[in-house]
Amino acid sequence: MLNGKKILIGITGGIAAYKTATLIRLLVKAGAEVKVVMSATAKQFISPLTVATLSKNPVLADFFNPENGEWNSHVKLGIWADLYVIAPATANSMAKIACGIADNLLLTTCLSARCKIMLAPAMDLDMFQNPMTQRNIQILKNQGFIFVDAKEGELASGLSGKGRMAEPEEIFESIEKYFTETQDFVGKKILITAGPTREKIDPVRFISNYSTGKMGYAIAETLANRGAEIILISGPVEIKPINNKIQLVSVESAQEMYNACKTHFPQCDVAIMSAAVADYTPETTAPEKIKKDSDNQMILKLVPTPDIASEMGKLKTEKQVLVGFALETENELNNATNKLSKKNLDFIILNSLKDKGAGFGYDTNKITIVYRDSTIEKFELKSKAEVAQDIADRIYPLLK
Ligand code: CTP
Repeated sequence: MLNGKKILIGITGGIAAYKTATLIRLLVKAGAEVKVVMSATAKQFISPLTVATLSKNPVLADFFNPENGEWNSHVKLGIWADLYVIAPATANSMAKIACGIADNLLLTTCLSARCKIMLAPAMDLDMFQNPMTQRNIQILKNQGFIFVDAKEGELASGLSGKGRMAEPEEIFESIEKYFTETQDFVGKKILITAGPTREKIDPVRFISNYSTGKMGYAIAETLANRGAEIILISGPVEIKPINNKIQLVSVESAQEMYNACKTHFPQCDVAIMSAAVADYTPETTAPEKIKKDSDNQMILKLVPTPDIASEMGKLKTEKQVLVGFALETENELNNATNKLSKKNLDFIILNSLKDKGAGFGYDTNKITIVYRDSTIEKFELKSKAEVAQDIADRIYPLLK
């Protein structure tokens, strides 16, 4: 199953680096193509010659090859890899990754990687328990990094506790699991709407909402990583898609989003409506900036926008799956259930603004899914990347 998979291994400076030699051997034996990038400290724990011999590829550590001045491109490495596994991942390197620091080739590649990054932490128990390390782990989990958790046991310091790197066999299994589980959407085309819409009042003003697009983009990344081809129809947001299986269609108004959905939905197997679409738009957009008139009230006449989810619900064929969101502040379950049937959705994902850590701008979300047969599934507060996996898992059985 790993045959032909391109796996980039990152080794940072920890005693567990010696175990990574076994991991590389297991991967090569399974038919994977392995390249290794090491930090300067890692070279004190395991010889680059051992690593190069086992991986059958030259080891990369510097931005330039000191012998011939050849440039080791982190961008090329980041595009080459199907998965980037950093084992061991020290507290120091994880802290740097969490901050976006890129002061060596291994870390720079983290920023340029288009694939998922898997981390196998290894450190002493006190370093592991330290709130700063735990905070960094949480930041990375929220960003969708995959963790092969550190284990309890005897540590290099002689102390005993949590911090040992997982055994190479376990990391290998996690890599295999990643490739089997995560390719279940191959051959599927999925439309996702995300972000807010902007409804223009005049050339300098618009009506919009607080949506940041984080949830929709997390769903797009998750499904693309699981093999789907994605059409991401997005309103104006600050973030950008990473996976190159995501085709971004940028729109501004609800009408533009509707037009793009109408064009793309017939070719798609699934549509997920996560955008916070404005329900109303100014009846007319003033061609010039509207001037202030302090003596009079300003009355803005608004007209309804197309309800994109409802319209897609009308177009939906037997073979297509349609999923919507409901953002509520009161009567949550009732409102969500009504939207589910009114918009002809297969299921609806309810967000309540009453839940702490859920809603616009957060990296976490707490959802409840309401199905057509009225069953309800409640989830814990999780990172948006984890929520996206849960949503993908619920869509998968509905694919025809
Ligand atoms: N939606 C849409 N087009 C709209 C409005 C909403 O596609 N013009 C979609 C959203 O993307 C979401 C679902 O419909 O998947 C529910 O959106 P929500 O804003 O919760 O509900 P509304 O239908 O707008 O109803 P209300 O604002 O009254 O709660």
